[in-house]
Amino acid sequence: MPRMRTFLVVAGAALLARRALRSRVAASPLWPMPALENPTSGRGRKGSQARQLTVTERTEEAEGVVRLRLEGTELPSWEPGAHIDLVLPSGTVRQYSLCGEPATPGSYTIATRLIEDGRGGSREVHEQLHEGTVVEVRGPRNRFPLGDSHAYVFIAGGIGITPILPMLRQAEREGVPWRLLYGGRSRASMPFLAEIEKLAGAGTDRVTVVAEDEDGRPDLAAVLAGAPPYAAVYCCGPEPLMDAVAALLPDGPDAPTLHTERFAPAAPAPAGGSAPFEVELRRTGRTVSVPSDTSVLRAIRDQALPDLPYSCEQGFCGTCQQRVLAGEVDHRDDLLTDAERDDSLLICVSRARGDRLVLDL
Ligand code: FES
Repeated sequence: MPRMRTFLVVAGAALLARRALRSRVAASPLWPMPALENPTSGRGRKGSQARQLTVTERTEEAEGVVRLRLEGTELPSWEPGAHIDLVLPSGTVRQYSLCGEPATPGSYTIATRLIEDGRGGSREVHEQLHEGTVVEVRGPRNRFPLGDSHAYVFIAGGIGITPILPMLRQAEREGVPWRLLYGGRSRASMPFLAEIEKLAGAGTDRVTVVAEDEDGRPDLAAVLAGAPPYAAVYCCGPEPLMDAVAALLPDGPDAPTLHTERFAPAAPAPAGGSAPFEVELRRTGRTVSVPSDTSVLRAIRDQALPDLPYSCEQGFCGTCQQRVLAGEVDHRDDLLTDAERDDSLLICVSRARGDRLVLDL
């Protein structure tokens, strides 16, 4: 009995102390959280520091595809699936998967296909980046990491092979069984074919190459039906390919798990705006008005920070992610994780739920 009394007294004291601390925190002039001296979002976000790299090698990797080696000093390490933001001479920002060897310090390798009717980024890479050109690079970041598995099935379409290639090398190094379905318009247009076939080894059926001009469309259903139980399926390529793989993935308790990387939104971000609101830029000391038909990104660039980085403006690249210090966010992307949503937002699509947000900018 005396023991129980002692326990209740100690527990009661702890509860009161905790309440007192909470109310002190709430009354503190430091609440809500002030901006940190070193920003943790936007340009200064860990891993997103801008670096000037030099193009030291440019190779025609396949028809319409150039491979670039970018060299610099003290480059952050990366793992398969990572990409960098490349700031092109016009200021346009584009994301490119790293397809070299993570163990090669001092350089990153990317490959880009010329998209004739694209938004212009690939044309700029093809026409303006040559050996000796200096470009700004941010990252790397990884939204397509290779998780542990006892077996992998990789499915790549065209230039979608770039994040998959380092995954193949890693699976091979670690002795994990893998298979690859690699599709493209023609063999001549498919980058890294020779390296992949060498990796698979002669006489194996680990790689299935489907060139549309010779073989027609790949039989995705057959590949997925042949996936080992609990295998991890990694897919990157055109949107219709990824949608088809998702639709054909077998069901069931031992079904494979699907991992994809999209370079376009899975579904369009909710259109239009909402009620107008204000955004305080704590670090800059400015407040901007966000009209109902304007994004937070546009409002901040127009009224306060014209160089604020962005790329897709559709909520899928992550370039415009910023840290929120106060205010409730109406998240309108499907990229950020729940943990990231706790303290950040994508300012190209997301908005305030109330009449004010405070950002670490
Ligand atoms: S600019 Fe791409 S997510 Fe906002």
